[in-house]
Amino acid sequence: MRTWLALAVAMAAWGQETPPDVAQGKRIFDAQCALCHGVGGKGGRGPGLARPKLKNAADDAALRKVIEQGIPGTEMPGAWQLHPREAAGVAAYVRSLGTVAPEALPGDPSRGARVYQAQACAACHIVQGKGGGFGPELTEIGARRSAAYLRESLVSPAAAAPDYFLWVEAITADSRKIRGIRLNEDSFTIQLKDAGQAFHSLRKDSLKELRRLFEESPMPSYEKMLSSTELDDLVAYLASLKGKS
Ligand code: HEC
Ligand code: HEC
Repeated sequence: MRTWLALAVAMAAWGQETPPDVAQGKRIFDAQCALCHGVGGKGGRGPGLARPKLKNAADDAALRKVIEQGIPGTEMPGAWQLHPREAAGVAAYVRSLGTVAPEALPGDPSRGARVYQAQACAACHIVQGKGGGFGPELTEIGARRSAAYLRESLVSPAAAAPDYFLWVEAITADSRKIRGIRLNEDSFTIQLKDAGQAFHSLRKDSLKELRRLFEESPMPSYEKMLSSTELDDLVAYLASLKGKS
């Protein structure tokens, strides 16, 4: 009788996975994720993760997949070379963050929507199919970036430009200056779209100069154009844009 019981207990333990190591998960998070998601997942270039519900990670399996493979087509990288046990530890740590109360933003999103209109942001940005596509689409920007990063985008756009975004200046053989967003580039040619939405395909060997303008952005800084209340409201509006729910 005793041996049966011991055997049953041993088998139950065998069938169970060892619980994830949350402390190890936190160490990995601090080293590899906090760079973009902030310490404690409070957000940065990437979204805050201290939320009970994650859009791309509805359950633990989906969360592990995001951690191991990233989110293709976004700035969320994959291939962390983590052992499955390490990935499980990171996932458990990320989940534990979701029990923390979400950050309260000072602004009002509906007033922010009016600031967005008044400042004609739609001249360069698309939200829900409306607006111009010169700058990045903002329909889901609140799910991709933290509030702090959104504020930075408005105050110093060049410092907070998305990874894929490159603002380039080309000087042609006849000394014309063309500035535009890089759409494509190979060894011989580069394709640019200028602020007037005109498309330029240039042969590199015919250019006098080709420079990447890391310090500049075609988006103006709104630091002096908006009052601090308007800035708060606009950040709250952008943070509320989470795409289709
Ligand atoms: C280079 C910056 C960067 C690093 C490093 C990074 N992430 Fe991300 N992560 C992002 C961005 C940006 C997104 C939003 C992607 C999108 O939807 O456009 C994201 C999205 C996510 C999401 C989905 C959030 C949601 O609401 O669905 C999770 C979960 C996540 N990251 C976890 C991690 C973990 C864990 C690590 C470390 C192993 C990590 N990330 C490292 C930038 C990063
Ligand atoms: C002249 C065109 C232009 C106008 C006007 C403009 N933007 Fe931008 N915006 C851009 C471009 C181009 C980028 C990408 C380069 C960068 O971030 O510096 C950008 C980037 C952004 C980003 C960061 C996107 C990301 O994926 O990280 C946000 C947020 C943003 N703009 C919001 C706004 C808001 C809100 C307004 C109005 C107050 C506005 N923009 C006005 C062109 C513009």
